[in-house]
Amino acid sequence: MAEPKFLLAPMDGMTRASFRLVCFEYGADGATTEMIQSLALGRAKKKLSNTFAETMVRYPGEGFLAAQLIGSVPAMMAESARRLTAMGRFDAIDINMGCPARKVVGSGNGSALLKTPEKAVEVMKAVRDATPLPVQLKLRLGWDEGSITAPELVREAETLGFSSVTLHGRTRTQMYKGPVDVAKIREIAESVSIPVYANGGVTCARDALDFLEQTNAAGVAIGRAALKQPWIFDDIHRLRRGEPVSERLAPERVALLERLAALACGHRPEKVAVSEMRKFCGWLLPGFTGADEVLARLNDVVTLDGFNRLMDGWLEGLMREGDVHPRAELLPKQTLDTV
Ligand SMILES: Cc1cc2nc3c(=O)[nH]c(=O)nc-3n(C[C@H](O)[C@H](O)[C@H](O)COP(=O)(O)O)c2cc1C
Repeated sequence: MAEPKFLLAPMDGMTRASFRLVCFEYGADGATTEMIQSLALGRAKKKLSNTFAETMVRYPGEGFLAAQLIGSVPAMMAESARRLTAMGRFDAIDINMGCPARKVVGSGNGSALLKTPEKAVEVMKAVRDATPLPVQLKLRLGWDEGSITAPELVREAETLGFSSVTLHGRTRTQMYKGPVDVAKIREIAESVSIPVYANGGVTCARDALDFLEQTNAAGVAIGRAALKQPWIFDDIHRLRRGEPVSERLAPERVALLERLAALACGHRPEKVAVSEMRKFCGWLLPGFTGADEVLARLNDVVTLDGFNRLMDGWLEGLMREGDVHPRAELLPKQTLDTV
């Protein structure tokens, strides 16, 4: 049996090069870029926007990286797959058949393809024929409870020679909430010989290992939990080695945030990159003394230097007081839904 893999799931606006690199450094076994619109890529003649450009970057420190395409016009998907392949920096092409956003499904893309398996297969064939790279599929169970099309699409992926499938155990109707159908993931994973990665609802390292066992999958893809605990991959590997996991203290979190900010500033104007750090600070700082004040003061910070000074100053105070542990009573009730 191959070793199970623990992957960073694709997240629009998030799984750009900087965040992916941090997750790889914490031991992620693979990652997928945020979704790339095949229409945008197929027609892109001008320089790509800064944001889009960071998606396309690959740092030398990144491990196995798939580029994810979203679209439903086979010729356009094929052309985009060729362009991504020609860039020479991706290990695989991933097809998005899971995105539930209204504007995405409204134009027949993402999880809308689950409603028309014949059309979905045309897209899969077009991409497979367009690239020598491994092709993988990311999908949900189906559009709704009454139309569970994943079993046939995953079989089709196997027949077409896809390298793997990531299966989010919810329907489109469920969006990001409600129970993940663990039994269905297991049934589908056991029905094919290609790796199926289970996805949906993992909140911590222990959870990921339980999910792996319950689904008998080839691994687990982790989305939202990685945003709040990028170290989840390290925790998983520690648990698998029989080692305890420990709380991540303020110095580690500050170092992580400063690293993310510095990396992001390499791709976007400093002001934009620093303002984006508010999200990560909102995920990683609560639970520590003075976090609220730091978050409030962050609103006035516009440079990387200012960001680092704010973080370092706060950390020095905590170190002086010996107050570097997160405290349960200061932690807000966070769930995956707060992402
Ligand atoms: C902010 C956000 C953006 C997402 N963007 C993508 C995307 O670009 N492509 C994709 O296939 N899935 C996307 N997803 C879905 C995740 O990959 C994953 O399937 C889903 O969040 C369930 O896993 P989780 O419970 O571990 O987060 C996104 C999810 C979130 C929360």
